[in-house]
Amino acid sequence: MAESDAREQKKHPRHVAIIMDGNGRWASARGLPRTVGHQRGAEAVRRTVEASLELGIGYLTLFGFSSENWKRPKTEVLDLMGLLRRYLKSEIAELHEKGVRFRVIGDRARLDDDIVSLIEQAERLTVGNRALVLTIALSYGGRDEIAGVARRLAAMVAEGALRPDQISEQVFAENLETADIPDPDLLIRTSGEKRISNFMLWQCAYSEYVFLPTLWPDFGKDQLVEAIDEFCQRDRRFGAAVG
Ligand code: IPE
Ligand code: IPE
Ligand code: MG
Repeated sequence: MAESDAREQKKHPRHVAIIMDGNGRWASARGLPRTVGHQRGAEAVRRTVEASLELGIGYLTLFGFSSENWKRPKTEVLDLMGLLRRYLKSEIAELHEKGVRFRVIGDRARLDDDIVSLIEQAERLTVGNRALVLTIALSYGGRDEIAGVARRLAAMVAEGALRPDQISEQVFAENLETADIPDPDLLIRTSGEKRISNFMLWQCAYSEYVFLPTLWPDFGKDQLVEAIDEFCQRDRRFGAAVG
């Protein structure tokens, strides 16, 4: 491999995380109900998984529903849960065929039982797959996740299984639901908003952020490649001196 190729290889993001935003605005702009935007958003998920496989991305994490999204009108929450149910029923067999490992992070206790069992089935079925690790964040909040780890570690200390001075960044990270996946290299947010809305607060400490104006239902391979190109031009230093 030529040295420049090797450099490109090294720079290519291993883990891409996406805040999929703008379904509602996509629908409103067309005079359609928000739910149509969410339906088209599900199609964009399909395209993005496909493109990630083609591009050889190892890990793709998608923010599907935040812990704060429970505050939305009940009908919208029901629509989103219905869409999730349909996605789990219709997509998993194909994802498995393509070698995708499927996993979910977030507070499952708030999801309906049948959805939780569909998720568990999908995770069991695809556990050995290696082509792409697809993680969907559902009922997920970064602060909620961090508070959960603090609770677990505090309980271990109370039981005498851990000393406070043993709580390091590494121990903390090992207790996150994302313990077995690398931190995102690239975080993309669609829809033009420039905030992270409580997504992967711990894990994105050194991610490169790319904000695209595209509304999520219009997202596909071209936009993913555009974000990766932008990522490749960034100089990641992790606090070290410029070399
Ligand atoms: C993203 O689109 C999907 C979810 C947050 C579930 P939105 O529904 O937030 O769409 P906008 O931001 O209102 O356009
Ligand atoms: C973030 O989008 C959550 C998801 C994409 C699932 P929101 O639309 O909920 O975020 P805010 O309200 O604009 O910050
Ligand atoms: Mg939004």
